[in-house]
Amino acid sequence: MDLEGLNQWLAERNLKGHWDHQPWSQTVRTHLWKGKDIFEGLNQAGELITTGEAGRRTIQMRNPGLSAGMTNTIHISVQLVNPGEVAAAHRHTAAAIRFILKGNPKAYTVVQGERLPMSEGDLLTTPNWTWHDHFNGGDEPIVWLDGLDIRLVGTFGAMIQENFKKEQQPIEKPDHYSAKVFGQARPTWIKSEFAAPPYRYPWAETYDNLLALKESAGDPFDGVLLEYSNPLTGGPTLQTFSCQIQLLRPKEKTYSHRHTSTTVYHGFRGSGLTKVSANHLNWDPGDIFVVPSWQWHSHENTTDEDAILFSITDRPEARMEDRGWKMAILDPLFSIFKPALCDVPHSLPRESRSRRPASNRPCSRRDIHPSVHRWHLRRHIIPG
Ligand SMILES: [Fe+2]
Ligand SMILES: [Fe+2]
Repeated sequence: MDLEGLNQWLAERNLKGHWDHQPWSQTVRTHLWKGKDIFEGLNQAGELITTGEAGRRTIQMRNPGLSAGMTNTIHISVQLVNPGEVAAAHRHTAAAIRFILKGNPKAYTVVQGERLPMSEGDLLTTPNWTWHDHFNGGDEPIVWLDGLDIRLVGTFGAMIQENFKKEQQPIEKPDHYSAKVFGQARPTWIKSEFAAPPYRYPWAETYDNLLALKESAGDPFDGVLLEYSNPLTGGPTLQTFSCQIQLLRPKEKTYSHRHTSTTVYHGFRGSGLTKVSANHLNWDPGDIFVVPSWQWHSHENTTDEDAILFSITDRPEARMEDRGWKMAILDPLFSIFKPALCDVPHSLPRESRSRRPASNRPCSRRDIHPSVHRWHLRRHIIPG
């Protein structure tokens, strides 16, 4: 038997030698889905199928590099609920968020007995294993982004779903319960039963924060970037993924960078250009795109108006230092500021090694812009 024969013999038994290199076909690809296609499909579905028939009336992103899903971890779909409709109560092991694109004062999601209003720009969390159902009591359809860690949970074979005994769960908590109980001044005797509590981040507050920070330096790689923090810990929105919102000022261009996490974006306001390696993604309101792990990327607001991107990142999963690894991120600023503390492991690709700082002295705040310093302290490597 020659080597080719051995490879064939192994393949027939669902085995493979390490020497038999084959292209890995399940790779997340950079891709942009146009909002007008998503909404056209969704509006058609709104006339053709009810939420009762569909379970959830959502249009899902399918990554051209994968046999299923949008990424290997997080997933976005867009959901529509017609006036008077209920999306029935259930719970599952996957955690979820809703970012509201079109709401109304009579629409709400109930999470674990608390009614959370759905207004445009609000972010609602549905931590894993919390009962949730949606209701539209208004006169117009409501639409939102669903973000879930369902691909990650599926990888572990741990996706379990349970339906509530009725279409809607009872509302057992007063309005604004989580905002009061888990806000800044909070009761000492009430503890959350979840690592991240169900929570609503009202758009009015988020937008106020974005505008208040508009004149600040911002993050050199992401503009005015806010993370929706877990109110209990101050950390990522949920344990497995985090949500962010960023404002790019008129004509603002960010520096390029890359990291070992995947991010999915939604163009919420305005238009811009995101360069992902050789791909140029021109986005408009409603568009959704994915920046896969370890791809150089930068953002640009190509207009004279503010542009706002909502995004979900699997960074909490990819944060390898939490698992005894050290995360490696490099960017062109290294060649400008030479922050020697941020060294480059030899295991990194050649183009990364070429950015190895010339000096070995530790970087100081004097060397670099303060926000860059914070950035590399937060995300850069310390070889271990
Ligand atoms: Fe659900
Ligand atoms: Fe990034």
